[in-house]
Amino acid sequence: MKLKSPYLSGENAIITGAGNGIGKALAFELASEGATLFLVDINAEHLNSCLTELHTLGHQAQGAAIDLSKPDAAQQVYEQAHQTLGSIHMVVHSASPPRRETDTWRTVSSEVWDAMYHVNVKFGFELARLVGEHMIEEKIAGRMVYLTSLHANTPRNLPHYATSKAAMMMLVKELAKAWARYGIRINALTPGAIAAGGFKPAGDLALKIPMQRLGTAQEVASMGLTLMIDRYSRYVTGTELVVDGGLNVFNWFDPA
Ligand SMILES: NC(=O)c1ccc[n+]([C@@H]2O[C@H](COP(=O)([O-])OP(=O)(O)OC[C@H]3O[C@@H](n4cnc5c(N)ncnc54)[C@H](O)[C@@H]3O)[C@@H](O)[C@H]2O)c1
Repeated sequence: MKLKSPYLSGENAIITGAGNGIGKALAFELASEGATLFLVDINAEHLNSCLTELHTLGHQAQGAAIDLSKPDAAQQVYEQAHQTLGSIHMVVHSASPPRRETDTWRTVSSEVWDAMYHVNVKFGFELARLVGEHMIEEKIAGRMVYLTSLHANTPRNLPHYATSKAAMMMLVKELAKAWARYGIRINALTPGAIAAGGFKPAGDLALKIPMQRLGTAQEVASMGLTLMIDRYSRYVTGTELVVDGGLNVFNWFDPA
């Protein structure tokens, strides 16, 4: 039997938030399909251990510890990734500041609000613009995946988080519309309640999920991978892929 070659060999990807959780799981998914990676995270220790694990498996990956809430972060990420990788074919934007239950409408500070918006929306836009221009110039049929949230549509008691994820969803639609003619696709990947670093489940949440359990970062990442591979998603842009065990259909009616 002829073995299939990896779907992403010869292609290069930037992944933000790759030190942990869903971003890290996506790094392993893309690498296992042959992609070469440039990883970014604010946490140098987590980033380096992810790079070591990837190298141990024989994958090609480099990275940089960069705080994406800083004004020049997108330029820095783009320049370092371009220098390291040459052409850039894919972007995953998974980094997002910690979601603290204490940051409610009463208490969220201006600094916390700004950092959330900067990492999720402004950095997300600026990196997409830089890489999008590069893809158009080099005639690359690129793909991007931005991690949003069910809380783009339903409140979370964290107004800075939910509203920034709603903005990211519209950013994905804006860019998808602008870029479709160049063959560049961008989609949102929307996790439900995932047992990854950024989410601490409270109470009996798992029982409210129709599949009766939390999801894993791996389960989100393997769907995200399909958005990068034309074989599975060639005609998919400007939409969201929800990976939530049915959480978005939960309401107060128990199943019959
Ligand atoms: N886990 C869930 O249940 C869930 C649900 C909905 C949406 N999401 C989204 O999925 C994405 C990944 O979530 P996760 O649970 O894997 O989170 P996580 O906290 O495990 O990972 C996020 C990564 O981003 C990095 N990061 C945070 N602030 C940064 C900054 N200023 N600069 C650079 N890097 C920074 C962190 O160090 C971390 O490694 C996020 O965008 C999150 O909003 C997650």
